[in-house]
Order: sequence, then C-alpha cells, then structure tokens
Amino acid sequence: MGLLFVLLTISIFSSPSVTTSSSSKPEAEALLKWKTSFINQNNPLISSWSSLIHQNTTTAPCTWYGVRCDDGLNVKQLNLSSSRLNGTLNYFMFSSFTSLTHLDLKTNDISGGIPPEITYLSKLLFLDLSGNHFSGTIPPEIGLLTSLETLRLNQNQFSGSIPASLGNLTKLVYLRADDNKLSGYIPQEMGKLVNLVNVNISFNFQKGPIPATLGTLTNLSTLYLYQNNLSGPIPPSLGNLTSLTILSVYMNELSGRIPDDLGKMKSLIVLMIGHNKFTGSIPASLSNLAKLEILDVHENLLSGFIPPQLEKLDSLIELSFSHNEFSGQIPASLGNLSKLEQLYLNDNLLTGFIPEELGNMNSLVEIYVVENRLQGQIPYSIGNLTNLEIFVLHDNQFSGFFPETISHCEKLRYLTLSNNSVMGPVPQSVCNLKSLQILDLGNNRFSGVLPQCLGNFSSNLQVLDLRLNGFRGNIPATFDQNNDLRSLNLNSNRLQGSVPWDLIKCRKLEVLDLGNNMLTGTFPHWVDTLPELQVLVLRGNKLKGTLDNSNNKTPFPKMRILDLSSNEFSGNLPKNYFKNFKAMMGVNGDSSGPLYMGRNSSMSMYQDKLVLVVKGSRRELERILVVYTTMDLSVNKFQGKIPDTIGRLSSLRFLNLSHNSLTGGIPIHLRDLRMLESLDLSSNKMVGKIPLELRTLTFLSVVNFSQNQFQGSIPEGGQFNTFGNNSYEGNMGLCGFPLTKSCGDDEVSSSPIPIEDDDDDDDSGFFNGFTWEAVALGYGFGSVIGLGIGWLMFHYGRPRWVIMIVERERFRQERKAIKTPQVEVSATSRAFRRKKLSQVSDVNFTMSF
Ligand SMILES: *[C@@H]1O[C@H](CO)[C@@H](O)[C@H](O)[C@H]1NC(C)=O
Ligand SMILES: *[C@@H]1O[C@H](CO)[C@@H](O)[C@H](O)[C@H]1NC(C)=O
Ligand SMILES: *[C@@H]1O[C@H](CO)[C@@H](O)[C@H](O)[C@H]1NC(C)=O
Ligand SMILES: *[C@@H]1O[C@H](CO)[C@@H](O)[C@H](O)[C@H]1NC(C)=O
Ligand SMILES: *[C@@H]1O[C@H](CO)[C@@H](O)[C@H](O)[C@H]1NC(C)=O
Ligand SMILES: *[C@@H]1O[C@H](CO)[C@@H](O)[C@H](O)[C@H]1NC(C)=O
Ligand SMILES: *[C@@H]1O[C@H](CO)[C@@H](O)[C@H](O)[C@H]1NC(C)=O
Ligand SMILES: *[C@@H]1O[C@H](CO)[C@@H](O)[C@H](O)[C@H]1NC(C)=O
Ligand SMILES: *[C@@H]1O[C@H](CO)[C@@H](O)[C@H](O)[C@H]1NC(C)=O
Ligand SMILES: *[C@@H]1O[C@H](CO)[C@@H](O)[C@H](O)[C@H]1NC(C)=O
Ligand SMILES: *[C@@H]1O[C@H](CO)[C@@H](O)[C@H](O)[C@H]1NC(C)=O
Ligand SMILES: *[C@@H]1O[C@H](CO)[C@@H](O)[C@H](O)[C@H]1NC(C)=O
Repeated sequence: MGLLFVLLTISIFSSPSVTTSSSSKPEAEALLKWKTSFINQNNPLISSWSSLIHQNTTTAPCTWYGVRCDDGLNVKQLNLSSSRLNGTLNYFMFSSFTSLTHLDLKTNDISGGIPPEITYLSKLLFLDLSGNHFSGTIPPEIGLLTSLETLRLNQNQFSGSIPASLGNLTKLVYLRADDNKLSGYIPQEMGKLVNLVNVNISFNFQKGPIPATLGTLTNLSTLYLYQNNLSGPIPPSLGNLTSLTILSVYMNELSGRIPDDLGKMKSLIVLMIGHNKFTGSIPASLSNLAKLEILDVHENLLSGFIPPQLEKLDSLIELSFSHNEFSGQIPASLGNLSKLEQLYLNDNLLTGFIPEELGNMNSLVEIYVVENRLQGQIPYSIGNLTNLEIFVLHDNQFSGFFPETISHCEKLRYLTLSNNSVMGPVPQSVCNLKSLQILDLGNNRFSGVLPQCLGNFSSNLQVLDLRLNGFRGNIPATFDQNNDLRSLNLNSNRLQGSVPWDLIKCRKLEVLDLGNNMLTGTFPHWVDTLPELQVLVLRGNKLKGTLDNSNNKTPFPKMRILDLSSNEFSGNLPKNYFKNFKAMMGVNGDSSGPLYMGRNSSMSMYQDKLVLVVKGSRRELERILVVYTTMDLSVNKFQGKIPDTIGRLSSLRFLNLSHNSLTGGIPIHLRDLRMLESLDLSSNKMVGKIPLELRTLTFLSVVNFSQNQFQGSIPEGGQFNTFGNNSYEGNMGLCGFPLTKSCGDDEVSSSPIPIEDDDDDDDSGFFNGFTWEAVALGYGFGSVIGLGIGWLMFHYGRPRWVIMIVERERFRQERKAIKTPQVEVSATSRAFRRKKLSQVSDVNFTMSF
C-alpha cells in the first residue's frame, strides 16, 4: 500500500515527463507472460499483475506488486522476495528489463537454471536468488553483469564450478554461494574482486586449495569457507587481510602448518580452523591477535606445547584445542584470560597439574580437560570460578582429595571425574551444588560413607554415578519426592544394609544399578512400580527371599535388563513378572517394538550409552546394540519349574537361569522367545527331553544345557547343528550329535568333556566379553545425556567419516540467519558443539543398521 502511494505520488508530481509514455508496457507484458508460466498463477500476492485492459496503461506495471520504477516509469527494481512464486526463469524476458538495478527473488519456489540471457540486465547492482530450488551450473555469463555489488545464490542446488568469469565482477562487495552443491576449485580470479567485504561459500563440495590470490582482497571482512572439501595449506598471503574479522574454514581437508602470517590479521575476532588436518604447533604469533574472541583449532593433528603467550589474547572468550596432540603442561599464564568462558583442552596428551592460576579466570563457564594425562591435586582455586557450569575431568590421572571449595561453584551442572585416582570421602560441601544435574565420580578411590544429602541436595540431579569406588555404609534414604533422578549407579562399592524404600520416590528412575555391593535384606518389591525403570542390576549382593509374591498387575512396565544374579534369592521363579514384563513382549524385530527403545525422544541417547560400554570396539558395539532385553537370574537358589508364562517374553534375547535348583522339564513355550540368542539353563536339576521345537529359534547361537539330568536325543537341524559338546556335558541321558554317544546305543559314554569354549561364533562374545554391568552402566549414562551438552562429544572418538556426513547434513538442516558477525559466529561455534553432541546418536544410529 505504502509503495503504491509513493509511486502514485511520484507519478503525479512528475507527470509532465510521462504524458505519452508507454515505455512500461513491454515490461508489463513480460511480467504477465512470466506469470502465466507459474504453477500457481492464482497466487493472490501477484493478483495486481493483471491484464492492461482494465488499468491505467501509463502507470502499469509500476503500480504492480513488487515493481518499482524510476521517474521515467522504467522498471528499476523487482522485489519479489517471499512471494510464493512457483516456476522457472525460462519465460522471464530479460531483454525487457534493461534498466533493472535490483532483482530480488529470495525465498520462492523457483527451479531450473539461470538463463544466459540474464546478461541483458547489464545495470544490475543487486541479484538475490537465494532460498529457491535453482539448479545446474552458474552460467559464465554472470561475469558480464559487471555492475553487480551484491550476488546471493545461496541455499539452492547449484552444482559444477564457480565460473572464473566471476572475477570480472570487480565491483562485487557481497558474495554468497553457500549451501549449494558446488564442486570444483575456488577460481584464482576471485583475487580480482578487490571490493569484496563478505564472502560465504561454506557448505558446498569445493575442493582444491584456497587460492593465494585471496590475500589481495584487503577489504575483506568475513570469509566463510567451512564445510567444503578444500585441501592444501592456508596460504600465508591471507595474513595480508588486515580487515578480516572472521576466518572460518573448519571442516575441510586442509593441512600443513598454521602460517605465522595469520598473526598479522589484526582485526581478526574469530579464527575457526577446526576439523582439518593441520599439523605442527600453534604459532606464537597468534598471540598478536588482540581482538580475537574465538580460537578454535579442535580436531586437527596439532602438536607441541600450548604457547604461554596466548595470555595476551585478553578478548578471548573461547579456546578450543580439543582432539589434537598437544603435550606439555597447561600454561599457568592462561589464568590471565579473564574473559574466557570456554576452555576445551580435551583429548590431547597434556601432562602435569591443572595450574592454580586457572582459578583467576572468573568468566569460565565450561572446562573440558577429559582424556589427557593430567595428574595431581585438582586445585582448590577452582572454587573461585563462580560461573562454572561444566567441569569435565574424567579419564585423567588426577589424585589427591577432591577440593571442597567446589561448593562455591553454585551454578555447576555437570561434574564428571570418573576414571581418575581421586581419594578420600566425597566432600560434604557437594551438597551445596544445587544446580547439579550429573555427578559422575565413578572409578576413583573414594571411600567413606556417602553424604546423607546425596538423595536430596539437588532437585535437578539426573545422574548419580559413584560406581567402582570404596564407599561403605548405607545408601542414603533421603530421596525427595518428585526428584529428577534417572540413573543411580552405585555398582562395585562396599555398601551395606538394605535397598532403601525411599527409592520409590525416584519416579523417573530408568537405571538402578546397585550390583556388586554387600546389600542384604529381601528383594525390593516396590521397585516394580517405578514406571520408567528399564535396567535393574542387583547382582553380586546378599539379597534373599522370594520374588514370586508380587501382586502388581503391571510390574516393571519398561524393564529390559534385569540382572539379579549371584544373590541368595529362593522360591519359585517370578511367574507374575514373566507374565507382565510388557517391554519384553514386543512382537518381533519390527521398528515399533521395544527393540528400538532409543528411538523415542526421552531416551534419544540410548545408542550413545552403548558406545560407552564398549569403547572403541566396533564389533562389540554392534553386539550390544541388539542386547536390549536380558534376564539373568543365575547363581541363586531358585526352585521349581520354569513357568510356561516365560513364553510371553517374546522379545527376550538373553536368558540365564543357570546355577539354581530348578526342576522339571524345559517348557515347550520357550519356542515363543523368537528373538532368543542365548539360553543358559546349566547346573540345575532339570529333566526330560530337549524339545524339538527349540529348533525354530533362528537367532539362538549360544545354549548351555550342561549339568542337568536331560535325556533323549538332542534335536537336530536349525541352530542345533552349530552347538558343541560343552552345551550338553554332564547330562548322562543325552545322545546324538554332537555327542559321541549315538542314540539307540545302550552304552553310556561317561568320559568327561573338558569345558572349552571352542565356539568362535560372533555371538559368543556376549559371555566372554562383557557383563550386564557393562550394559547397565551404558544405560546409566546415556539415558540423560540428552541434556549433557558436550558431555558425550568429548567422551569418545567417533569414526570421522560418518561424522563428516552427519555434520554436513545437520548443518544443512539447521540454518540460522543471525545478523551481526560476532553473534553469529559465537552461535555457530556453540551450535557446532551442540551438534557434535547430537551427532553421536546419529552416528550410532547409522551403525545400527
Ligand atoms: C493514468 O495515471 C496518470 C498518473 O497518475 C494520470 O496522469 C492519468 O490521467 C491516468 N490516466 C487514466 C486514463 O486514468
Ligand atoms: C525486498 O523486500 C523485502 C521485504 O520488504 C526487503 O526486506 C528487502 O530488503 C527488499 N529488497 C530490496 C533489494 O530492496
Ligand atoms: C510448486 O510446484 C511444485 C510442482 O507442482 C509443487 O510440488 C510445490 O509444492 C509447489 N510449491 C508451492 C509452495 O506451492
Ligand atoms: C571475464 O572473465 C573471463 C574469464 O576469466 C575472461 O576470459 C574475460 O576476458 C573476462 N571479460 C572481461 C570483459 O573482462
Ligand atoms: C554462511 O553460510 C552458512 C550456510 O548456508 C549459513 O548458515 C550462514 O548463516 C552464512 N553466514 C553468513 C554470514 O553469510
Ligand atoms: C575498500 O574500502 C574502502 C573503505 O570502505 C573504500 O574506500 C575502497 O574503495 C574499497 N576498495 C578497495 C579496493 O580498497
Ligand atoms: C574430498 O577430497 C578427497 C581428496 O582430497 C577425496 O578423496 C574425497 O573423496 C573428497 N570427498 C568428497 C565428499 O568430495
Ligand atoms: C602478502 O603476503 C605475502 C606472504 O605473506 C607477502 O609476501 C606479500 O608481500 C604480501 N603483500 C602485501 C601487499 O602486503
Ligand atoms: C599474567 O599473570 C601473571 C600472574 O599470574 C602476572 O605476573 C602477569 O603479569 C600477567 N600477564 C599479563 C599480560 O597480564
Ligand atoms: C582463589 O582461590 C584460592 C584458593 O582457594 C584462594 O586462596 C584465593 O583467595 C582465591 N582468590 C579469589 C580472588 O577469590
Ligand atoms: C581411563 O582413562 C585412561 C586415560 O587416562 C584411558 O586410557 C582408559 O581407557 C580409561 N579407562 C576406562 C575404563 O575408561
Ligand atoms: C534432605 O533430607 C534430610 C533428611 O530427610 C533433611 O534433613 C534435609 O533437610 C534435606 N535437605 C534438603 C536440601 O531438602
């Protein structure tokens, strides 16, 4: 409306010059012709583009939507951004718009190529085709639009090379070609574009070197080349770019040393060269970059010491050196970086202590030093970091006591110290950390009793992991109503007493692992009401009593891993549980079934925890990915028969009832456990024949019927052809393959068969390699890691090639338009990290298929 008014006003006041003008008409005709080629011609936005019969032919099309004319009624600008145009440029009569200076078609549905006729627009200053579906190559003719100052081709499907003729656009200030499918080399000729200020070619498939000629573009302020396939070194000439504020080339294949000359870029605010193949050390010259706020070199092959001179970078907000081969100590001088908020040093070869001076960095929000060789006492000065939210120290060699000053860090959300040698009691002051969400002190040398506050000090606590320490005494019974705890792992300590009834208040608990302690008392029946519980591990305690007296109609609705092995449970097997474990009753391996528990959002990190379990071994990883449903009641004193209701657990994969006093036969209903991979009934008092029906269990790869009183012939066919002698030994009455005793022969061969696992089958690894605890531990972490930004990302190495692909896709999916350079880059950088987190799940997702 406003535009219309303005145009009318212009026309009125300048009427003398336009009285007989009909010069606009060809342009009007051209627009009408173009309109008829649209798929959605009835697009209401362009309803003003209509037949001249009913219009003032003098002013048309200047009064039309999106059209702007000069005083002479020549069409100067077509601004049709976000106008739902759906068509191509093939019917656009470029020759009718020779006066055009601005063509803005941003964010429409235009497809096809750029016709070479675009050269008619020789006065064009501004061309924006971004956010469409343009495809094909960028025509070399675009190099004839020599007045162009702004060229935006981003977010399309352009392929092929950037034409060398682009170098003729010497007035170009702003160039975006990002987020296309451009391959080929960045043309040398770009070095002629001396007026360039902003360049973004990120998110393509550009290969080859960064042309040294770019070093002549002295007006350049931002250069984004990230997420391509560029190789070779950073040309030292880029050091001449003294106006450059942002240099972002992360996620390429760049190599060589970081040139000293980069220290000349005195305007530089952001230097992101992470995820490449740079070698050598960090040049000390970088400490001249006085305005630098982000220095990110993560995931390269950089080595040497961290230069102490970096203390001069007093604007620095983020320092990311993670995933390299840096060695030596963390320089104490870094303590002078008073604005630093993020310090990422994880996955290097750093040694020595954390310097006391780090306590001076009072802006610090995140410290990651995971997976180094750091040692000694964690400094008490950490308590000065009152803004600290994430303190991630695991997989080092820290020793000494845990500093009680940590209590001053009231904003602390993640504290992970697992796999170190820290000793002594957990300081009582931990109870002041009211924001804590993850407390992982597992695998250290902590001792003493657990602080009573542990159950209720932080209403945000989601993971409490104290496994593999020397804690003794009782489990605190202080859990608050409505607490957030998802994972409680106290495995492998010396805890005593009974399982506190208080845990019933942990309604969100997904993992409860109290295995390998000295707990006494009876089975905590009330845990069967915890609605989210998926993993229950009580193995290796001294728990007693029967399990067969639950009246709960829906016990353990989500139980997938139940490990009660090595206790003193007695009585009959829990038939009520067998009847009602809903989560073990998925029909088959369909995607809808519980086998895919990790697919819903609340457990979206399911696969990740499995990575944690196996640390590196691909084979084990894949094995564990299918170990969703397991029941281990072995090494107890259970009696009686295996109830027929066991047949209901149709998605159970591993069943171990060995070393009990079970009697009766093998229920024929076991044939309904269609996913069963492993069945261990050994060392019981069971009798009868091995049902032929078990031959239909096609996944069964490990069975153990040994040390019972089974009789008759061993079934032949199906998986039974693959089991060895040791599956049957100690059953006098069995005969047939693979035993030497053939059926019908009265002589009983009682020569003992040595126990030897000659089964090299892939799946036997389950028994050799890892235990339920391992699986459960994995669950414990993963279940809540969805919120642990960066927590996973530094925890494991991932196959690089998968990440490349995944990251590329993720970036494509999540585009953000953020205005100012600083903000944008910080956001990019942070988003980048965050993505690295979610990608872990993607990676595993990829692998699970
Ligand atoms: C067309 O518009 C011009 C400028 O507003 C005006 O001078 C002229 O009288 C109009 N002609 C008709 C036929 O309405
Ligand atoms: C086109 O219009 C949009 C929306 O009014 C505006 O944001 C954009 O700057 C305009 N483009 C030009 C080249 O004037
Ligand atoms: C544009 O046209 C194509 C082809 O008919 C159609 O698939 C697409 O949905 C249309 N887009 C809009 C926004 O109408
Ligand atoms: C434009 O660029 C091409 C390729 O670089 C070159 O061959 C041609 O001479 C240039 N044309 C003009 C007019 O500068
Ligand atoms: C650069 O391109 C990427 C990918 O399209 C985009 O996400 C980012 O916002 C762009 N940045 C600038 C400053 O143009
Ligand atoms: C660079 O920028 C300055 C100041 O904006 C301007 O005067 C100059 O023309 C630009 N181009 C070159 C080639 O320096
Ligand atoms: C990237 O470049 C390397 C060689 O430098 C090549 O082996 C690889 O296939 C390229 N990747 C893509 C996605 O183009
Ligand atoms: C640009 O950088 C290169 C290499 O650092 C240097 O040799 C050259 O003299 C510089 N040119 C200018 C104009 O500063
Ligand atoms: C860095 O800190 C040390 C003390 O830790 C101090 O002596 C030195 O002057 C500081 N350097 C700068 C550049 O502030
Ligand atoms: C920092 O921590 C140390 C050790 O806890 C303490 O002695 C010092 O006074 C603290 N400094 C400040 C500024 O709080
Ligand atoms: C403990 O950390 C060291 C690195 O310090 C690592 O090599 C080792 O694998 C870790 N152990 C476990 C069980 O994660
Ligand atoms: C935690 O529970 C204990 C015992 O019930 C109680 O004395 C204490 O006040 C509770 N603390 C908080 C922070 O609620």
